[in-house]
Amino acid sequence: MKLDLAKISKEALEEVAKATGEKELEGLRIKYFSRKKGILPKITQEIPKLSVTERAGVGTKVRQLRSKLQEALAARSEITKASTEQRVIDITAPGKKIEAGSLHPLTKVINEVKEIFHYLGFTTIEGPEVDTDTYNFQKLNMPPNHPARDAQQTYYINDELLLRTHTSNMQVRYLESHKPPVRVLFPGRCYRRDMPDATHFPSFYQIEGLAVDERISLTDLLGSLDFFVKGFFGPRTKMRSYAHHFPYTEPSIEVEVLHPKKGWLEILGAGMVHPRVLRNGGVDPAKYQGFAFGMGIERLVMLKYGIGDIRILFDNDLRFLNQF
Ligand code: PHE
Repeated sequence: MKLDLAKISKEALEEVAKATGEKELEGLRIKYFSRKKGILPKITQEIPKLSVTERAGVGTKVRQLRSKLQEALAARSEITKASTEQRVIDITAPGKKIEAGSLHPLTKVINEVKEIFHYLGFTTIEGPEVDTDTYNFQKLNMPPNHPARDAQQTYYINDELLLRTHTSNMQVRYLESHKPPVRVLFPGRCYRRDMPDATHFPSFYQIEGLAVDERISLTDLLGSLDFFVKGFFGPRTKMRSYAHHFPYTEPSIEVEVLHPKKGWLEILGAGMVHPRVLRNGGVDPAKYQGFAFGMGIERLVMLKYGIGDIRILFDNDLRFLNQF
């Protein structure tokens, strides 16, 4: 038998190169590789019949041819597949929908609050969620064993580090590095050891506001908050405030807005920055005064969008998120 492997190889590769579809390629696979009738298995079967001189190296060559051919078939298959895909483009088919993300309602409300206070000259800065007991409590007039700490179910990391319980941790931090006049918002995440229920979640957002300047008074605070409430809930929204207590403001107030269905609802705590807090921040209370407020963002989101359960804000359920 005369075996011209070079010729077989050349022909085979040419055939593969000409194949235009999977059917033809499959035919070639059978032609060359089929165990019973395939050309290559046949050659292998014939090897023992060859004379010793003819036989030399044939096995290796056949194996090389086999892998070359397999590669060529695979490559050709990719190419024909790609071109058939192109050919079946149906220009009348509706386009594929590109999913666009949207902002989380919490982010939206934070942005809105920032925008409203921007009109009053407030800038925004974020602060650390992991902070020291010093900034979260002590410099805010809450020494160790102060009873107000009990109300704030704190997650401690160690004796000094904790997860901030409110954004008020930024008050002294900021004053230490910024001279008055100061008008700034501190949005961010806070943590308290609360059991999750419809109105509590161990992690939540607040926006703190801080204004320090000469001759700042309680009426500036009330006027700014009124401006905010009307901007956020609508121009006819009613707001009221009453005396409260925070160790770091004096006097302290809480603010409620009148909800058409639910009545008066508390939305924030505020007050005139305590002179000791100003001093802790390196500000002379004889010359400067300030006001501060802190509001819960989830509350605002829930009121604005009529959401009854805070937990839905943290579920990341697309059926909910897609509505925003
Ligand atoms: N830190 C208070 C809270 O968590 C809110 C507050 C901020 C009160 C600033 C007064 C001044 O409820």
